[in-house]
Amino acid sequence: MLKGPFSYSGNKTRIWKHHLEEVLSSYEKIHEPFVGSGVCVYNSNKGGNCIDIDHNVVTLHNGLKLPNLIERMVECHNQYFSDSSDVFGSYLRLREDFNKLYRKNQRTDESNVHMLYVLIQLSFNSLLRFSSNGYNVSYGFKGFDPDRVRRHIDALSKKEIVVKQGHYSDLPLSEINKEKDLIYLDPPYVASKFQYGGWNKEDEKNLLSYIDHLNSQGYRFILSNTFSHRGEVNQDLIDWSKKYNTRFIKMTYNAWSSRVPSVKKDEKTSEVLITNIDHIFLNLRKT
Ligand SMILES: C[S@@+](CC[C@H](N)C(=O)[O-])C[C@H]1O[C@@H](n2cnc3c(N)ncnc32)[C@H](O)[C@@H]1O
Repeated sequence: MLKGPFSYSGNKTRIWKHHLEEVLSSYEKIHEPFVGSGVCVYNSNKGGNCIDIDHNVVTLHNGLKLPNLIERMVECHNQYFSDSSDVFGSYLRLREDFNKLYRKNQRTDESNVHMLYVLIQLSFNSLLRFSSNGYNVSYGFKGFDPDRVRRHIDALSKKEIVVKQGHYSDLPLSEINKEKDLIYLDPPYVASKFQYGGWNKEDEKNLLSYIDHLNSQGYRFILSNTFSHRGEVNQDLIDWSKKYNTRFIKMTYNAWSSRVPSVKKDEKTSEVLITNIDHIFLNLRKT
């Protein structure tokens, strides 16, 4: 399994093997209008069209097409971390140099995307988090792993993966094959402590109408979401899901709780996959 070229909170590596691999591998292209680290599209048979609202996410994916990304990452790592006695200070120097470029151009671009790749790999929990001053995640005592990026460059050369910045509804529907392709939607969760950029109830309502539109036009979809998070129930989503099929995924935030003391083990989260595909998932049941 490819884990995505960079780590991302909310990525789908946890549920790939048991819940997604079998069904997704029976489609040619997987289109991801909330791409994040793109676990599903990189593991698809033939690629797909992807959108994300966050330009940093989009630049990281498109940076894989630069002819010398790996060489620049390795060079950058050698330049800053040749003195192993002060990795913490080295990380802060790299972060500040990256942020100077970021503030100058007001974005991550081709000139500094290799620095961002190195930073994310070494940062705490590999987080992708920015403030107005730039990347603001602290050092995470993690290892440098250019091979992870190399594996995704290889995948990109074999599949048609297109990533653009925009709103999920910019997905080019006319390029999607209704029989052979699948649209996999993994939006920020309303019932989630881990919010991405102010996604709210109204956003979710609009998204559910958009998915109804996809369904009425004959597109196949899977929506990842949660019916409840830490005991907080998303009744609107539960009611909406009754039109479709739902697969329940047993999960906890154990992985987080072991590393982040403020996040306690969570028995009250109910993660689901909702789909208009029939007879595909084993153990499907109506809600
Ligand atoms: C849960 S993450 C997706 C994780 C992804 N499935 C993975 O494997 O890493 C949700 C993503 O949706 C993006 N997003 C939020 N609002 C959006 C919108 N209105 N249109 C498109 N993307 C959006 C966020 O920037 C974030 O990358």
